[in-house]
Amino acid sequence: MTLRAAVIGVGHYLPERVVPNAEFEKTLDTNDEWIRARSGIERRHFAAEGETTSSMAAAAANKALEHAGLTAQDVDAIIVATSTADLTFPSAATMVQAELGMTTGFAFDVQAVCAGFVFALSNANALILSGQAKRVLVIGAETFSRIMDWTDRSTCVLFGDGAGALLLEAYDGKGTSQDRGILSTDLNSDGRHKDLLYVDGGVSTGTTGYLRMQGNQVFRHAVEKLAATATKAMERAGVESSDVDWVVPHQANIRIIQGTARKLGLPMENVVVTVQDHGNTSAASIPLALSVGHERGQIKDGDLIVTEAIGGGLAWGAVVLRW
Ligand code: UT7
Repeated sequence: MTLRAAVIGVGHYLPERVVPNAEFEKTLDTNDEWIRARSGIERRHFAAEGETTSSMAAAAANKALEHAGLTAQDVDAIIVATSTADLTFPSAATMVQAELGMTTGFAFDVQAVCAGFVFALSNANALILSGQAKRVLVIGAETFSRIMDWTDRSTCVLFGDGAGALLLEAYDGKGTSQDRGILSTDLNSDGRHKDLLYVDGGVSTGTTGYLRMQGNQVFRHAVEKLAATATKAMERAGVESSDVDWVVPHQANIRIIQGTARKLGLPMENVVVTVQDHGNTSAASIPLALSVGHERGQIKDGDLIVTEAIGGGLAWGAVVLRW
């Protein structure tokens, strides 16, 4: 028998306010056509005043618990992947823990920017495989609207807010690629590229700061690194591209998503795409896409899924799992 971390619940939360591309034409030298053509984004959700990363994370977590038919007291650990925690500390995860009414176990944040959910899934998998937790809530949640420079057309039209959650549970598999749950992970980072995507604030400046990105430079790294990490993770899992039912990529740019799928030899019919509706929600984008893909009826029990993401750091990685 081989211990596996299987998905037993999924859920998401999107703020009510939807902002179409045209909205930016009022204040910036940009247009709907440019944003759609260069990024694939058509609209995004923005959090309301008073709505926070932790409140959205808790809403998504409640949906995942409901889906699994469990309560927060049944959970051993909460990991929140985010770069936009409500406060410098405590972690968003402990705030979620309190909001869910969970008084046992432990909670912490993982910060790997847009790759955060992949890093969090890998950490949750390690906690389960090492016997430190039986059930782990893994949440990706972001309020990137709070770190946008609204005068910078090259960034502020790209990002959105939201949250998604998976509930993982320890399960005894057979040790083959037919097992349900996480089959392999691959994590990478290279801090030499820190200036390509960063926030120019933090404890060293005493400000929250704004997101700064050399988008075309990040783009140059993206397709190659995403295809390489996904390939490595598939090799580790003992599966081939032809076995994959769904690629659920980080949703930053439709051209990156298409380029990576092409490199992996997979048609777009096998890719869950939500970037048009959500924009780039950083660490929230993969769990949002998993939840929406499940809701749409695309992702079904037994499907083989490859998730991959890259973001600030640079940090990137992939997870292969069977739903
Ligand atoms: O999630 C974390 C990882 N992040 C990413 O994966 C993002 C990766 N990068 C991208 O998605 C793309 O690079 C962008 C969508 C950000 C930009 O697309 P691009 O094809 O790389 O365009 P570019 O940055 O090379 O800019 C092309 C032109 C520039 O004008 P000039 O210098 O050619 O005259 C920009 O000033 O487009 C201009 N531009 C805009 N024009 C209209 C930049 N932003 C806008 C805008 N509206 N909003």
